[in-house]
Amino acid sequence: MATAAIRPDNVPADRIIDFDIFAPPGIEDDYFAAWQTLQAPGVPALAWTTANGGHWIATQGDLIRDMWGDAENFSNEALAVTPGLGEVMEFIPLQQDPPEHKPFRNAVMRGFANSHIVALTPLVRDVTRQLIADLKERDGCEFMQSFAEIVPIHVFLTLIDVPTEDRAKLRPLGAQLTRPDGSMTVEQLRDAADEYLRPYVEARLANPGEDLFSRILSVPIEGRPWTFEEAQRMCRNLLFGGLDTVVAMFGSIAAHLARFPEDQQALRDNPDLIPQAADELMRRYPTVSVTRNLLTDVEADGVTLRKGDLIYLPSVLHNLDPKSFDNPEIVDFERKLPPIRHTTMGNGPHRCVGAGLARMEAIIFLEEWLSAIPPFRLNPDKPAKMRGGNVGAFTELHLLWS
Ligand code: HEM
Repeated sequence: MATAAIRPDNVPADRIIDFDIFAPPGIEDDYFAAWQTLQAPGVPALAWTTANGGHWIATQGDLIRDMWGDAENFSNEALAVTPGLGEVMEFIPLQQDPPEHKPFRNAVMRGFANSHIVALTPLVRDVTRQLIADLKERDGCEFMQSFAEIVPIHVFLTLIDVPTEDRAKLRPLGAQLTRPDGSMTVEQLRDAADEYLRPYVEARLANPGEDLFSRILSVPIEGRPWTFEEAQRMCRNLLFGGLDTVVAMFGSIAAHLARFPEDQQALRDNPDLIPQAADELMRRYPTVSVTRNLLTDVEADGVTLRKGDLIYLPSVLHNLDPKSFDNPEIVDFERKLPPIRHTTMGNGPHRCVGAGLARMEAIIFLEEWLSAIPPFRLNPDKPAKMRGGNVGAFTELHLLWS
């Protein structure tokens, strides 16, 4: 929602724009293009939007990436532009700054070790195959509900060893966190997650098993056990981290292939290209943006960002900046990536701990979908719809095949 111009005295008049990160013009049709309007000539590299209470937005790739990785000056504590979300959620490790962040992050990373991800591959393949076996008998589907929202949540619930039927209960919580529609306060959202998780957190602390939460909670924090409160904040973080992001990624990948049949064909002809294709599609369609709060005054691009200011860092404007990647809008499965990595999974000490899991899910989706479903396209009678927010995503994506 745009508010009356809020303009602290460190913001020069020529930096001011009115850009609502939850609803930029055109977002329903194309999240990526809606954000790219901020790279039009004349938009400053550091702009101040008056929407949502007023905050900075970095609009150029190099600034976004550098600020994202600079944990000395840019804190994760605030979490989001959404007022109050950070104070209420207190995610571990996402909202911790170094050095506090490190031992918690190490424990979470141990839980996501590659050996565990590899061990999970057959389950992901099974779930993917079962769903596709049903879908291929039809002549099309609404992809988000029929596939994208099912697999990643099912996999995450299996990882934490809870009933997979709980998917329907948990799915709306993920969407509320990243694209709030006002139907729940942030406190209600946190309480709903905590209420769901509480029995499992207690059980995993008392009697660790082989599941993801148990693995993480059995790694001591600087020589001492996790407290219940810390355990709850970490489990809350993983629950929300795993609910919405992979769903969004599946949507973007399916939409690209539906629009570009030649890319479908290339992967059908040469499945060995799939792992590279998954990487390139994840670069081309980044949907996560993060917020940082300034720990100190920082001079950049001729302005002073003041201690306490909020700045929004959209990965879409790093990955689609032609100064960061050649022809960034082109999907090239054989793209030679520059030494600089894309920011779909972030940059710096908070880079996504679920990156290996997400990549594995993308690869299996591509392998299984393309080997079972005939050439598919967008349904011209039912236009796709997208929503913005800290994770942008398709809300409707109708595919046809015959
Ligand atoms: C395609 C899917 C995914 C995308 C695009 C994605 C994106 C990101 C990004 C951009 C960050 C950095 C946040 C920051 O710098 O403030 C992040 C961090 C994180 N992600 Fe993911 N993520 C994905 C999947 C997952 C999954 C499946 C999980 C867990 C099941 C997960 C859990 C986390 C956690 C716990 C963090 C915080 C790490 C830390 O603060 O040290 N993510 N993710």
